Amino acid sequence: METEVTPGPKSNGVTNGGARIVLDDDDEVLSPTDLSEMLAEGTKESHDRAENCQFVKDFLRGRIKRELFKRGTMALYYVYSAMEEEIEKNKDHPQFAPIYFPTELHRREALARDLEYFYGDDWQEQISLSPGTKPYVDRIHEVGEKDPVLLVAHSYTRYMGDLSGGQILKKVAQRALKLPATGEGLNFYQFEGIHSHKGFKQLYRSRMNELELDAETKEKLVAESNLAFGFNMMVFTELEEIGKTIKEEVQDAGLGHSHAEIMQGG
Ligand code: HEM
Repeated sequence: METEVTPGPKSNGVTNGGARIVLDDDDEVLSPTDLSEMLAEGTKESHDRAENCQFVKDFLRGRIKRELFKRGTMALYYVYSAMEEEIEKNKDHPQFAPIYFPTELHRREALARDLEYFYGDDWQEQISLSPGTKPYVDRIHEVGEKDPVLLVAHSYTRYMGDLSGGQILKKVAQRALKLPATGEGLNFYQFEGIHSHKGFKQLYRSRMNELELDAETKEKLVAESNLAFGFNMMVFTELEEIGKTIKEEVQDAGLGHSHAEIMQGG
């Protein structure tokens, strides 16, 4: 019998006589009902949309204004403060505890240091929660209070993303904004407690799969993760709009060809 292989960006679906076996990047056998697989599959379209929105595309090309990067860091500070506050309150919840990794993952302190770098000692007086970020922050508090298992979706969406695409963004921002090689302003992207991003992501996925969740709850988590992607898009859209009102020099310092190379036909 022929085996049909359908490669995907994050997993390979192998069909054999109708029974679907899913292999991850390391050929580990996963079931389509494993939460990690349901989330990866169920948020693919949202991920594509996020990667392809104007703000993110500009960022990847190195077309990022310092003011927007600062505001983005500010938005993330409010998001992670809310998320980590709710996670702390629910850290012993049986449907969250296995993915509680404060030392490895939590970003609030790193973001506070980045804001201090960008805004100075009185950064706390200078920052505020933007209208585009508020619904995201409100939702995180709402789920933390009313349905804490949904924090799994919020954690997955942000931390797994930070450990993946986040590393590309770090390099682009460093180059485009000429930030110091010592990493100041970019602490958010630096996970000091994680040596292998790939290894940690595997551990995180297996811990998610060990959570005792019924099918309905898993579906709710996929929906909540898609909602979280939507909230991230709202933040990007707001930044993009603000960007149009700011006059600031940007330069193509992203991945791919620089202006100079294009001018020289490179
Ligand atoms: C996974 C890149 C934006 C959330 C990934 C992976 C890459 C990537 C290469 C695969 C990593 C792997 O297979 O281990 C990017 C790039 C982005 C971007 C270049 C644009 C700048 C985002 C955004 C979010 C996000 C905006 C959500 C806020 C995720 C999540 C995963 C992921 C949750 C894990 C998927 C899984 O394996 O279950 N990203 N990403 N990404 N990304 Fe992104």
